[in-house]
Amino acid sequence: MNSIKHVAIIMDGNGRWGIKHKKSRNLGHKEGLKTVEKIIKTTIKNKIKYLTLYAFSTENWKRPKKEINFLFNLLENFLLNKISDLNKQNIKLKIIGKKNFSIKLTKLLNSSEKKTSQNKRLQINLALNYGSKNEIINALNIIKKNKLKINESNISKNLFTKNTPDPDILIRTGNTKRLSNFLLWQLAYSEIFFEKKLWPDFNEKDYFKILNNFKKIKRNFGNI
Ligand code: IPE
Ligand code: IPE
Ligand code: MG
Repeated sequence: MNSIKHVAIIMDGNGRWGIKHKKSRNLGHKEGLKTVEKIIKTTIKNKIKYLTLYAFSTENWKRPKKEINFLFNLLENFLLNKISDLNKQNIKLKIIGKKNFSIKLTKLLNSSEKKTSQNKRLQINLALNYGSKNEIINALNIIKKNKLKINESNISKNLFTKNTPDPDILIRTGNTKRLSNFLLWQLAYSEIFFEKKLWPDFNEKDYFKILNNFKKIKRNFGNI
């Protein structure tokens, strides 16, 4: 049976859920946050050490200002209200992506990371203003600046996900089958699960089913 160290999730479908139930995309984002909390709990229950959540892509800046502001307010309130609790639960928060936000949010992100940096039970990588192409270019520029060799190990070591094993599992909810610029390097050998349900409807049972299915897969890594 395969062990699971790292699960990555593209949490898609909030907007559609909001329109369907409340006639507002933003209320779908609010509802989606409840799923995040449930999934964190289940991840801990299953003793998985790394959880990477795609929350905002480098391409999501194309959205209307009103929606972007709502999303970042939601994040800010979540951190203000929950970071102590996450810390108590021995959870480490790491932001992956380029941190060019308002001074206020950057400070809050940095202090949340610092507060939880020594925690060991679960590491949550929150992908914010994250784009995989941007991450790879960034790694190559660091390699060039430091006159290092271009090889697999040096690239991995200079990605935002350094010190995190590659995901065993990628889940994308929302009935869409694409990667949307997420972890293109790191997903080379991950098992991919596309889930029809919209993110706010995704629950512990759905998650558990995926984890169980994964355990039974024969992973070859090129071997036979
Ligand atoms: C994913 O849900 C969350 C973010 C991208 C912030 P969407 O907002 O993309 O929801 P849909 O895909 O439009 O329903
Ligand atoms: C991917 O979802 C990004 C996040 C879940 C944060 P999108 O909804 O932005 O992806 P596309 O645009 O449909 O590919
Ligand atoms: Mg979407």
